[in-house]
Amino acid sequence: MQENKRQHRRPEEYLGLACALAIALTGCDDRATEITDPDGNGQGPPAGAVTLAFIGDQGWEPASQADGPRAVLQLIEDEGADALLHQGDFDYLDDPAAWEAQIDDVLGIDFPYFVSVGNHDTGEWDGAGGYRDRMEARATRLGFSWDGQLGERSALHFGGIHLLFGAPGTLGSDNTVYADYFDGRLAADTSTWRICSWHKNQRLMQVGGKSDDTGWEVYESCRAGGAIIATAHEHSYSRTHLLSHMESQAIASTADTLHLTTGASFVFVSGLGGKSIRDQERGGDWWAAIYTSDQGANYGALFGVFNVDGRSDLAYFYFKDIDGRVVDSFWVVSEVNGNSEK
Ligand SMILES: [Fe+2]
Repeated sequence: MQENKRQHRRPEEYLGLACALAIALTGCDDRATEITDPDGNGQGPPAGAVTLAFIGDQGWEPASQADGPRAVLQLIEDEGADALLHQGDFDYLDDPAAWEAQIDDVLGIDFPYFVSVGNHDTGEWDGAGGYRDRMEARATRLGFSWDGQLGERSALHFGGIHLLFGAPGTLGSDNTVYADYFDGRLAADTSTWRICSWHKNQRLMQVGGKSDDTGWEVYESCRAGGAIIATAHEHSYSRTHLLSHMESQAIASTADTLHLTTGASFVFVSGLGGKSIRDQERGGDWWAAIYTSDQGANYGALFGVFNVDGRSDLAYFYFKDIDGRVVDSFWVVSEVNGNSEK
């Protein structure tokens, strides 16, 4: 775990700076293409108790190459992340052993690695030596316990953060099964921080060519439960403003300090894990940041630093690519102190 020893600004002091940092940020005129020190203190992002990395759509490459998926894993190692949440589509080769070896090569065999199954992972998902079997063995070896079927419909706690995983649009045909599961787990838990993770999207919840795959129920259930929504599938990065309703893209606030409640949350697509980089095909005023080939994107990961400054309700998020560019940064204050509003 990282020590909390850095001095940094209060969230409200970052509002203007965060606006200046984001690329393709609606309503912000100032755009920077290279930011390596977001808080200006010469020490990189603020320290917190727990740092999570979020990626999807990874791919595989030999160690001699290391300019795609291995470079992203190295970035995650270098940023000092405590765990990785992979929102699906692993190696695209149906080779669970090679995929896990790539992880182990860079992050080590004891690095906490949690997944949501993607559409390119279903062929080798089940069975001995498959992706799920390997993730279960890894979690068990590291001492984690979980509810449900890991990577499909499951929940666990990491560093006090409630992590929920689903597979809407990827496994099975009834997406309400996942929404009902999220409702139940979020209602039964009192964690300040909650994250819903799955692979696919609704068309308006990504900026590329993906279609409606998940239904809106999972988005609304996690929003109502005060959970951050982590997705992938489209091979770019995008992040919404704080939304009070997902299906209608109702914006609760465009501030770069997002106040998370049981009723208002945000969605991100972190799909630059190393497989490929796609262009922007759509937008909308609900998007706070967009990073695609049209913005000159490279591979990278979104990082969430939780419990900044010893504050259990404060987190700092930033997307960093393998060239060191921070193209989106924002604060999140959790006002979730109890159960879901449902
Ligand atoms: Fe996918």
